[in-house]
Amino acid sequence: MVYEKLTAEEKKWVDENVHKIEKKLVKVRERSARKIPSQAVDGVHDDKAAEEGPSGMTRTFWTNGFWAGMMWQLYDATKDERYAKVARYTESVLNPCLLEIESHDIGYLWLPGSVLDYKITGNEQAMADGLTAAKWLAGRFNPACGVIRAWGGGNESMPLVKGAPPVHMAGATIIDCMLNLPLLYWASETSGDPRFKLIAMRHADTTRKHFVRENGSVIHIVEFDPESGEVKTDHGGQGYGRGSSWTRGQAWGLYGFTSSYRHTQKKEYLETAEKIASYFIANIPENGLIPSDFCQPEEPWVQDDIGACAAACGLIELSGLVPEETGRNYLDAAIKMLRAIDEKSADWSEDTDGITQNGTTGYHMPGRNMNYVYADYFYVEAVLKLQGKGVFVW
Ligand code: GLY
Repeated sequence: MVYEKLTAEEKKWVDENVHKIEKKLVKVRERSARKIPSQAVDGVHDDKAAEEGPSGMTRTFWTNGFWAGMMWQLYDATKDERYAKVARYTESVLNPCLLEIESHDIGYLWLPGSVLDYKITGNEQAMADGLTAAKWLAGRFNPACGVIRAWGGGNESMPLVKGAPPVHMAGATIIDCMLNLPLLYWASETSGDPRFKLIAMRHADTTRKHFVRENGSVIHIVEFDPESGEVKTDHGGQGYGRGSSWTRGQAWGLYGFTSSYRHTQKKEYLETAEKIASYFIANIPENGLIPSDFCQPEEPWVQDDIGACAAACGLIELSGLVPEETGRNYLDAAIKMLRAIDEKSADWSEDTDGITQNGTTGYHMPGRNMNYVYADYFYVEAVLKLQGKGVFVW
């Protein structure tokens, strides 16, 4: 167990941190019980279930599973039924909307919600909802390219960020999808039908080949010809630019390949996870705070607590899959990032709704250095895991 590998001082930090998380979230839970938050603005959670977006799509906004995930992790740790009740509100909003979703983010939406509900409580309806979601995700697979299509359902082209070259959506896939694959692995493990796992492994194999650079960094977007499957181009996406290293993308790759190895035992996935981990660790700044892109200029400072927390979760998971000494290096890196956030980037006031304060959606996108619910989710997952709690979601 991870906790036993920690020093006495680290254990003290972890225990105190879990206490702070529980003390804050018990209050936030009550204030946000009928919301699906994506971020806290001026200390108050927004509500994606209530917002009017284009054709009501904010209900299926890709981060909408993380609030439920945080509630389920806290439910598992405390057995307080009120967390489960709040988590199930998100499930009740998302499940009727599945067929509206034209993106690969179904894993991010259903794994921390319905699937975690099933894993923790054995709720059979939640299992059925998770399997239905996996079928919808599997339908996005393009056998010519060997990947799951990231966005849209037609022949559209558009830039991901303002001013960037257009992306031809029919052939585009992104590194983020590596953390949607666990929905497919889980579906095969749960149903006994290998189709889901085979699709996930084809996607992971293609991603290894075309996204992971020699130095262990990863590309955000690769665009394939959707009929021939040939690679056409790649894009910097949410990172600083083409050829750069968007840190959250590195985190999705690190955690995603770790997860693919855990589900399949295919050793190439472990090698890839370790290669990305090495690159990531070598680039962690002295103060432990993670930039939005490892290639961004020094000024202005654009930070990404989301990437830091997701990478920390991946490193903690990876630490249990490798020899002890290497595993200890991974734990050191994870703890360094989490402690940096705790000390310099977290808001522990019980009167405000967000924990982490410096997430960034994309280097060139609005929403720099702000609270995001998925940073908070991964922070909570990481610290609970260090304590030997935390349910395996991905
Ligand atoms: N998956 C989109 C993001 O990480 O912002």
